[in-house]
Formats: sequence, structure tokens, C-alpha cells
Amino acid sequence: MNSNELKLALNELLYPGIQRTLGDLKLIGEVKVANKHAKIELLTVSDESYLNVKKLIEEHFSALFDTLDIVKKNLQAKKDMNYGHSAAPNNRAPYAKNVIAVTSGKGGVGKSTVSVNLAIALAQKGFKVGILDADVYGPNVPRLTNTDLQRLSWNDANKIVPAENFGIKIMSVALTTPTMDTPLVWRSSVAVNALIQFLEDVAWGELDFLVIDMPPGTGDVQLTIAQELPISAAVLVTTPQIVATDDVSRAVMMFKDIGVKMAGIVENMSYFIAPDTKTRYDIFGTGGGEKIAQKYGVPFLGAIPLDMQVREGSDKGEPPVALGTEEQKKFYREIVENILKNATFNL
Ligand SMILES: Nc1ncnc2c1ncn2[C@@H]1O[C@H](COP(=O)(O)OP(=O)(O)O)[C@@H](O)[C@H]1O
Ligand SMILES: [Mg+2]
Repeated sequence: MNSNELKLALNELLYPGIQRTLGDLKLIGEVKVANKHAKIELLTVSDESYLNVKKLIEEHFSALFDTLDIVKKNLQAKKDMNYGHSAAPNNRAPYAKNVIAVTSGKGGVGKSTVSVNLAIALAQKGFKVGILDADVYGPNVPRLTNTDLQRLSWNDANKIVPAENFGIKIMSVALTTPTMDTPLVWRSSVAVNALIQFLEDVAWGELDFLVIDMPPGTGDVQLTIAQELPISAAVLVTTPQIVATDDVSRAVMMFKDIGVKMAGIVENMSYFIAPDTKTRYDIFGTGGGEKIAQKYGVPFLGAIPLDMQVREGSDKGEPPVALGTEEQKKFYREIVENILKNATFNL
């Protein structure tokens, strides 16, 4: 096996735990083979992922070579990859000063509810904010913002005019389908193209923050957004039940690997407040989100209780940070303050 053949084979290996190849993630640097000795440079960003990928390569290739020297090339990684805040990232949204990506390992953890309320909380602080619903297979930002009956129009410059409510601009595929419950049967390449159109052909105006409600998990759409936008900070939403699962660690690892800064972790549906007595019940124990944040060395941004009013309000298009109680508003506002503290923004 010569250098080129080894490089091709390495690029085809699947990154442990996610359905992406090392080639997709641009993790393989220089590869040299001479007389049964191979030297492989990895462009991994974190130590954990360096060790993961090293182990993977050893499992597949150590039998073929006398020595397998796998080294980490740290600083070069960000420069060579068009990800995150790299030297020359792609930027499909030059009108946005900052991009915040809200993600989760799994669906149903309250990612959209958190995205919408964070976006509104930022607007309440006087920032110009847009929210892009990138969860193309489960788009619910229009329902959460009571814009699901608005229909899109085009302006004179032939750009799509986004929906608007609660002081934020909103764009979602759910605004383009004839009825709200029209299912999307897109291939991921079509979904990716639609999102790129939403970034390029929507009249967002100047934005201080573009908040992106990402699809759950670590697939094509997540990777494309990380490649096409300079993400200022990623916020990971989880619930106590899945706080320690592989899905959460995969999501954290993917962002670390592609060089995107994590603003931190939000623990949603963290504990239960009884609507009648206001008693707090720690159904799943306490501190899971904080522990996981410590484990990965990312900030803990706050815990939001499981609150029936939050669900009822959200499902009616009444975001708690705008129309809820003072207490409900406080949770989201504190998280926004923590995000602003924990990441570097261009304001
Ligand atoms: N803190 C909360 N308390 C009660 N219900 C919540 C809370 N956060 C979210 N929900 C509800 O949980 C469901 C899933 O939330 P959603 O934001 O759509 O999740 P995701 O975007 O992760 O799939 C929705 O019905 C929402 O109203
Ligand atoms: Mg959602």
C-alpha cells in the first residue's frame, strides 16, 4: 500500500459513532508510506477525538505496517478546514454579525422551544435577531412563534420576506409548504440546498444574531451548516434522561472536532414544578447537565424546569419569555446572559 492508497483508505473509515467518514470530516492530513512504515497526520482538534481516531486507524491498519506513527497536527487543523472560525470560513450569511447554533443529540428535548425563547430574549435586549428553522424534517418554529398561518412573499429585490413576530424574523420550510402538516420527503441534499437558499435568498436585513434551530444529531445538515457559516457559538440542549447518553457526547465531540466553539449546555425539563403547589420535584436527580458539562470541559448555561405552562403556551404560539410568568422569563434570560458571557461575539 503506497501513501496515496493509504490516504484514500483512511478517508473512507467511519468516525466512531457517527455516520461520517474521516474524509467528510477532513481529519486526515499528510500520509507517508515508506518500507512498511507509515506516518499519518491527524487534523483532529480535541485530544479525545485524536485518541478515538488513532485507535480506529490502528485497529484497521496496524497489521499492514511494521510501524504506524499517528501524530496530531493541532493548529493546522483549523486553517485547513473550512469550518467554524477558521482562517477563511465560508460565509453564506454576511449580514449576520453572529451565528448561534442550537443543537441536541436527540429530538424532543425542547431544542426548538429553547431556540425560540433565546432568540426572543436576545431581541428583548435590543439586538436584531433572526431565527432559521434548520430542522427541516420537524420544523416547528412557526407554530412556536404563532407565525404558522403567515405566508411568505417576495420583495422588489426578489428576496423572500421572512415571517416576523415577537421582534424576531423567522424562516422555516414549514412556511413554504401548503399546509402545516405536509410531510417532507426530501433527500438530505435537497434539504441542504433549501437551507442554503434560506441563508442566501431571504431578506434578513442586518442581524446581530442569527439563531439556528438545528436538526437533532450529527448528520449532513449539521455538517453543512458548520461548513457554510462561521458559527460563533453552539448551544447544546439536553434533558436529564439523556444527559449522559452517547448522543450527547457525539454531538459535543462533533462540534469540538470541526472547531466550533461550544457556548455550553442547557438542561431542559430539568425538574418538575407542580402547577398547584409550586413544589419542586427532582424527578431525575440533580446536576446531570452540570456533570456532563464538566466532563467535556464546556460551560453549563442553566437548567429549565419541566413546566406544563411552558408546553401549553409554546404549543399555542405563546413563547414563555414573551408571554409567560416573570419566573419563566428569568430562566431563558439567564441562559442568554451566560451565553453572552461564555462565547466571543462580534457586537
Ligand atoms: N421546559 C419545558 N417544560 C414543559 N414542556 C416543554 C419544555 N420545553 C419543551 N417542552 C415541550 O416539549 C415538546 C418538545 O419540545 P420541542 O422544542 O419541540 O423539542 P425539539 O425541538 O427538541 O424536538 C413540546 O411539546 C414543547 O412544548
Ligand atoms: Mg424542534
